[in-house]
Amino acid sequence: MIKLFFIQPNGATHEASAVNGQTLLSAAREAGIDGFTAECGGNCTCATCHCFIEPEHLAEMFEPSEEESAMLDFVATTREANSRLACQIVVEYFMDGLRVYLPERQY
Ligand code: FES
Repeated sequence: MIKLFFIQPNGATHEASAVNGQTLLSAAREAGIDGFTAECGGNCTCATCHCFIEPEHLAEMFEPSEEESAMLDFVATTREANSRLACQIVVEYFMDGLRVYLPERQY
């Protein structure tokens, strides 16, 4: 299992477990993590699964696709360099211990 940490805007931290190949959004949902609206159900068309990836891990991750990058222009909170859509991130073993920060709002 791959351990992930989701941090709410108030600092509350929740741990989740994921398997290799699962999306970040799916892992969060299975763990009952609040803060993702995910209106489109993971199809990269709503931008309500916005999250911020801990900067230290950002360099290891693959770049957002053109589609994801375009959708990130529509997030409800300010887009940052470490902004990503949780439905588009496929969890891999090297992400063990990754910290994922939730935005103040998704819409
Ligand atoms: S769930 Fe809609 S863009 Fe990720």
